[in-house]
Amino acid sequence: MKKYNVAVVGATGLVGRTFLKVLAEYDFPINNLVLYASKRSAGKKVEFKGKEYTIVELTHDAFDDIDIALFSAGGSVSKEYCPIAEAKGAIVIDNSSAWRMDDNCALIVPEINIEDAYQKSNIIANPNCSTIQSVLPLKPLQDKFGLKRVVYTTYQSVSGSGQKGVNDLIRCKNGESPEFYPHDISKTCIPEIDEFLNNGYTKEEMKMVNETRKILHMDNLLVSATCIRVPVEACHGVMIQVELEKEFTLDEVKDALNNYPGIILYDDGKNHIYPNSIVAANQDNVYVGRIRRDLSCDNGILLYSVADNIRKGAASNAVQIAMALDIDKCKK
Ligand SMILES: NC(=O)c1ccc[n+]([C@@H]2O[C@H](COP(=O)([O-])OP(=O)(O)OC[C@H]3O[C@@H](n4cnc5c(N)ncnc54)[C@H](OP(=O)(O)O)[C@@H]3O)[C@@H](O)[C@H]2O)c1
Repeated sequence: MKKYNVAVVGATGLVGRTFLKVLAEYDFPINNLVLYASKRSAGKKVEFKGKEYTIVELTHDAFDDIDIALFSAGGSVSKEYCPIAEAKGAIVIDNSSAWRMDDNCALIVPEINIEDAYQKSNIIANPNCSTIQSVLPLKPLQDKFGLKRVVYTTYQSVSGSGQKGVNDLIRCKNGESPEFYPHDISKTCIPEIDEFLNNGYTKEEMKMVNETRKILHMDNLLVSATCIRVPVEACHGVMIQVELEKEFTLDEVKDALNNYPGIILYDDGKNHIYPNSIVAANQDNVYVGRIRRDLSCDNGILLYSVADNIRKGAASNAVQIAMALDIDKCKK
């Protein structure tokens, strides 16, 4: 089997550390592994598959002889360094929002649209964590019944803000003042994720709107979102209200979801079976449940999805893209 030279950028972060875990679990065929972070972490030692690696400071001299570069070091690092990695011949899979809406870059959930990767530049974007776990259940419904309108409400864990978010929850639980969130996250949900825009939505909410349209190839889909940070350490929940084009039975909807890769139907409310962080943590599947008719419109359905935001929402989705790609087909 062919082996690849792999770089991980942001290797010391929440997503970066999970990249290493997932690469090992999936037994990704690695020849040489290079781990980058900022000057702060340069020299630190990290273990991968029983071997010790030293963190290297990311500079413009990076990415020599790299086949695949996995980025998770924030938008400004990705803006600056993804083109450098690409110019040196690497296929880049980026977890930040820097390239997602760039027309030249594919935005991929591998179960849905891996083919998009071959029509674009070699910078491939990984969608927002909440988008991934929302479009996965929407796709089989789109295929079978057509989508008319979607409304999202998210319940996003603090790990979605990286290590700073997790630290703030711990700090606040210990009675200290918040240093990262605008309010004490141990005492309240916070309906503010990323910056507020002039239309009253936050950037996170508009990411969900725009990325959903791009991944599902539906530029005119009616979609809106409200994103809420909750005092939970791991996994995001998304309530999805969807109006379908065609009539359906609940059994048909459940069948469509059940037969789609990456989805686990977890829906038996009377027995307390519904998606939750405890069952979804450390998993790569998206759990979907609470499936019922929307009483407020025709052909409406309500679903609740929960997934591990660091795994399927970030690291695992990116590694799954790398596994699903025909790498030689990408290289131009
Ligand atoms: N958390 C999630 O649920 C999630 C989901 C999807 C996407 N993402 C995206 O993934 C990225 C990282 O998120 P995270 O949650 O892992 O954050 P994090 O825990 O704060 O980690 C940030 C990483 O970026 C590195 N870094 C920061 N500035 C750098 C620089 N100038 N040069 C090189 N490396 C630098 C840090 O290295 P040092 O150790 O040197 O500081 C660290 O390894 C973000 O773009 C985020 O939007 C996160």
